[in-house]
Amino acid sequence: MELNEIVSKEVLAPDVTRFVVYAPEIAEKRRAGQFVIIRVNPLGERIPLTIADADPRAGTITLISQSVGKTTYELAEKEVGDKLVDLVGPLGSPTHITKVGTVVSVGGGIGIAPIYPITQAMRAAGNYIISILGARRKELLILEQEMRSVSDEVIITTDDGSYGKKGFVTDALQELIHQGRKIDLVIAIGPAVMMKMVSKLTAAHQIPTIASLNTIMIDGTGMCGGCRVTVGGKTKFVCVDGPEFDAHQVDWDEMEKRLGMYKELECKALERYWAEKKARA
Ligand SMILES: Cc1cc2nc3c(=O)[nH]c(=O)nc-3n(C[C@H](O)[C@H](O)[C@H](O)COP(=O)(O)OP(=O)(O)OC[C@H]3O[C@@H](n4cnc5c(N)ncnc54)[C@H](O)[C@@H]3O)c2cc1C
Ligand code: FES
Repeated sequence: MELNEIVSKEVLAPDVTRFVVYAPEIAEKRRAGQFVIIRVNPLGERIPLTIADADPRAGTITLISQSVGKTTYELAEKEVGDKLVDLVGPLGSPTHITKVGTVVSVGGGIGIAPIYPITQAMRAAGNYIISILGARRKELLILEQEMRSVSDEVIITTDDGSYGKKGFVTDALQELIHQGRKIDLVIAIGPAVMMKMVSKLTAAHQIPTIASLNTIMIDGTGMCGGCRVTVGGKTKFVCVDGPEFDAHQVDWDEMEKRLGMYKELECKALERYWAEKKARA
């Protein structure tokens, strides 16, 4: 088997693909909360993806990608036996795994992929885990069985009510808080707006909360400034200082603005990709 070779590929949900990739050194070293930066094509951009799982004995890591733009659609086209052009990692600070008591893991959409290894490690450290998993609709929910295997309780919410409780993950979290459940730590991963809303809710109840930020990244080494965020009034780089931060200290509005900075170019790149794909067919 060759380095960076795709060993298996599985479609988990519409536009969500799980890849197992041969990368023995990363598989050996990675810890919960870390990510890799990959390039799919020689002239392509570099994108970060969380290491959703690893098997050091097989020398493989698991990446789960949601197709949202040019690079992630190109990745979804790759097949078993293809190789990623490069794969750098493990990057980012590992999650601080500690026994705090009851941990609520809130995963929204593709955010369930990065929250899975963290929840697994938090459970192994002896915490009681309540997982709240949210998706827009049933067919978009991923890793339900994996999350059940590392949780003591699982609550599922869908925006349209097609599975679990109808509503947002924040509704389920609010219900737990109103029930007077003891919550020592909340970990939230998902779209920026979801993490912002979880943060607002838990701040009002003084519940410590960690969020894993999914900013735009380029070099992953703290040099380019692409992933800059403001946390507690200070400038931080998600790639080296994070990706996890105290959610109550994050300037969410600034982060959301910066995420939308290249929207026009991203849309053009995707349009070009679809046109080229059509021409190839
Ligand atoms: C530390 C880290 C870990 C990540 N882990 C995963 C993962 O495990 N699985 C996964 O599918 N994605 C993950 N992401 C997000 C992923 O990197 C982006 O979706 C990807 O870079 C988009 O590239 P693209 O060229 O396909 O789309 P682009 O053309 O760059 O973007 C297309 C659309 O997606 C939005 N977008 C772009 N980047 C992000 C982002 N970082 N977060 C949310 N929306 C974005 C854009 O605003 C635009 O609307 C992670 C991001 C970070 C920073
Ligand atoms: S990605 Fe360049 S500074 Fe973080």
